[in-house]
Amino acid sequence: PLVKELFGLSELEEAVRLKFGLRKVVIVAGDSDESDDVKREIGRAGSRVLAQSMEPGDIVAVMGGTTMARMAAHLKVSAPMKDNWFVPARGGLGESVDYQANTIASELAKRTGARYRMLHVPDHLSEDAYQSIMQEPNVREVVDMIRSARIVVHGIGDAATMARRRKLSQETIDELIRDGALAEAFGYYFDREGRVVHRMVTAGLRLEDIEAAGTVIGLAGGRSKGEAIASVMRFGHDDVLVTDEAAAEEALRRA
Ligand code: F6P
Repeated sequence: PLVKELFGLSELEEAVRLKFGLRKVVIVAGDSDESDDVKREIGRAGSRVLAQSMEPGDIVAVMGGTTMARMAAHLKVSAPMKDNWFVPARGGLGESVDYQANTIASELAKRTGARYRMLHVPDHLSEDAYQSIMQEPNVREVVDMIRSARIVVHGIGDAATMARRRKLSQETIDELIRDGALAEAFGYYFDREGRVVHRMVTAGLRLEDIEAAGTVIGLAGGRSKGEAIASVMRFGHDDVLVTDEAAAEEALRRA
């Protein structure tokens, strides 16, 4: 409440932008932990940012999750984007169907008249399985598109929450906590300093692809995610953050 009195939302946006060295920050009023309407507003604001960022020919790689699903439900464009592609950023990460990256990519394509491709492989692969699955021309083609995405749009979660949602083994969860994992985004786990503490062989977007993408857009809100948002922003490859007031205040406090 104090922060709210001192700063209007645009001052808060500017404070977050400067703190994490971002190109743009959009903050909606409220706390998504307390109201689903606030998460919907993050989705709506995120869809506007995405629509403004897209240029003909762009490949957009998207992650899953409930915030991304809200974004997909709001995207509107003035003319069909026949030259654009939506692809999932990663393979199956154990999300339920409505919130999978594949579902979100197809929904976005339907809403915009763009094209989409799906990646029907589990994300956690052994080295052997990875090598053989990548020999499949269909898989290879989608993976190459994912890795050349110019725009990446993703959610951010708290590490323990996401590890449980993905039903990782207790052993892996203990290991993550021991390594200081606080946040999860793009299928990777990050510590307080924004270092990746857990990586695996993936058929999807790799860290170097995130670094190479022209525009990386993060969407996440709720006070409970403030610390996770701060740690992913410290990783330092996001360009745009769309969040809510409570998460922004908390992220600044943790920074
Ligand atoms: O599993 C996809 C994903 O985008 C994660 O990378 C992220 O941590 C999570 O979903 C966010 O989900 P939600 O928006 O439902 O909190």
